[in-house]
Amino acid sequence: MSRFATIEGLRKFRQTLLRERDPWHDTSRRFRIRRFAGPECFLEHLEGLRVGHLTDLHVGRVTPMEVQYDAVSMTNAGKPDIVVISGDFVCHSQVYLADLTDVISKIDAPVFAVLGNHDHWAGAQPVREALRRGGAEVLDNAHTTITIRNQPLQILGLDDAYTGHADRHAALKGLRPDQPVIGLSHIAEEADALWEAGVPLVFSGHTHAGQVTVARLHELSVGKLAGHKYIHGLYGSRGTEDPKGAVYVGAGVGAALVPLRVGERAKREVAFFELGMQPGAFDEHHREQPAHAGRVPSSKTKERRADAVRRKQERRDRRNGNGKPPTSAVEPS
Ligand SMILES: [Fe+2]
Repeated sequence: MSRFATIEGLRKFRQTLLRERDPWHDTSRRFRIRRFAGPECFLEHLEGLRVGHLTDLHVGRVTPMEVQYDAVSMTNAGKPDIVVISGDFVCHSQVYLADLTDVISKIDAPVFAVLGNHDHWAGAQPVREALRRGGAEVLDNAHTTITIRNQPLQILGLDDAYTGHADRHAALKGLRPDQPVIGLSHIAEEADALWEAGVPLVFSGHTHAGQVTVARLHELSVGKLAGHKYIHGLYGSRGTEDPKGAVYVGAGVGAALVPLRVGERAKREVAFFELGMQPGAFDEHHREQPAHAGRVPSSKTKERRADAVRRKQERRDRRNGNGKPPTSAVEPS
């Protein structure tokens, strides 16, 4: 047996051990598929248009590739007209960009994407390029229009607000008020201002639903400690009552640090939204939930977050000399 075959055998054996013996290393392929109706204001514009929503793929060593391909096959099985993905495609490095391209390229429907904080930490431009190679359209503070069965739908994407890259005014510029629009933002709290600007449904991620939702721990970790108003699922309103807009926070597919997912709401998730259907027309997992108190990040916090992106880029530049992606097969944690 060659030395390479021995190493490969040991690697597979270790992976099996991790999967079968380590309860904290959640390599489970259990997903939840959830289905919701779109907002009422779409009823006069759209009929039978299905949006698939994925978020926080975090393609990398923490999330097995089988999980990524499961997410894709479940999405494809739902036969969406479009798929929207609300950021955090990678973990901490550019090591898995070819895998990311492959995952995205296997989605059957047109894909629209916005970046998340991890994408900016790892290097936004290479992530964008990997997504584009996979066939996705990346919306950086911009909007586009897709026409499906003669029904135009505008899709607006905000770049990541966590790291200070969101520019709502640029994204909204030229938006047509006479055509329906959906929004994408990694950070769900950006939805409040998008609703005001006439975007009645926003898809988000970032929270991973807290990853541990037993004993309502996610409300403590994501709500009270991290200061999020929107933790997991549907918030706002799809009807005519205030706040005249809804946001869906997906639980995500992968993880960047801790692979643990415990509790029903924490399960990996693929969501489908039926635009042009009346809320209540079919069984939904839940209706709009009340928002949590939340906390607006201070300007000092915002500066610290923006600075983290700069420092990581500088470190990458120093390590790679001219900014080339690292060649190491080991992803830093
Ligand atoms: Fe994430």
